[in-house]
Amino acid sequence: MTGSSVTIFVCVSCRRSLNGDESYDQPGEELVPALKSRLKDAGAGDVTVTPVECLAVCKRPCTIAVTAQEKWVYIIGDLDPTQHADDVVEAALAYQRSEDGIVPWKERPPTFRKGVVARLPPWGFTQPEPETA
Ligand code: FES
Repeated sequence: MTGSSVTIFVCVSCRRSLNGDESYDQPGEELVPALKSRLKDAGAGDVTVTPVECLAVCKRPCTIAVTAQEKWVYIIGDLDPTQHADDVVEAALAYQRSEDGIVPWKERPPTFRKGVVARLPPWGFTQPEPETA
């Protein structure tokens, strides 16, 4: 389903430790407006950014999920709003262009290669049977 609408869920609850002490920030809160701004500049109105409370990857702040109907879902962690917002937009647009959500390895920004936590099949997916001779 090439070109379908994409949603980027951004965890806004992730806490990132600062200075190795009790202090922390919540990078997802900065990542949401950073992504919205860049997507607007890119004219990508069919890529939506939605804050979410937790994606259960709390030890790799901040975390996002990239999803679209009938495409594989990608969970990406270790994102910084200042350093990685452009990478997230680039990857989301490549994801949108893809047939099934699986972007070729060399087209993924390094952030997505290193930060991938999991990918999940789309709803109703069944693995094709191997062909027999
Ligand atoms: S608090 Fe961000 S994934 Fe759980």
